[in-house]
Amino acid sequence: MDVLTFLEHEHAEAKDIFAKLEKAKGPQAQKLWDQLREMLSLHETMEETFFYPKLKEDKRATDLILESYQEHHVMDVLIGEISQFGPSDEQWQPKIKVLQENTEHHIEEEEGQLFPKVRKIWDTATRNEVGKLMEQMKGEHRKERRAA
Ligand SMILES: [Fe+2]
Ligand SMILES: [Fe+2]
Repeated sequence: MDVLTFLEHEHAEAKDIFAKLEKAKGPQAQKLWDQLREMLSLHETMEETFFYPKLKEDKRATDLILESYQEHHVMDVLIGEISQFGPSDEQWQPKIKVLQENTEHHIEEEEGQLFPKVRKIWDTATRNEVGKLMEQMKGEHRKERRAA
């Protein structure tokens, strides 16, 4: 699969879980959060393993990639903080809201600014190759989870 299609699917899934989380309460909210945290972490890992480092080498993408790393960092800080709280804490909802806003902004930049550059930098074969690597990593991750 084209890596950009793969990532777009993941972005849509993350936005969907955020939307559900907005309405959820108690154990249901906790369950959605666990799911979201895991998918966001894996998503960042896949991008930072197969996507950002190679693209950063191309001058057309360097600045955007450097900014993307910082946006991931801010998301990680928020994810770490939210994980210290539960749905009944008063800081839970506002922190999730800020993470949602940060994540949506990051997705907009990736899809709106970075992906068009990637289409110029990588041909279809390369994009498919990178997409395959991500699908493999995601598959491995699922296997490990089932085994645990
Ligand atoms: Fe990202
Ligand atoms: Fe992304």
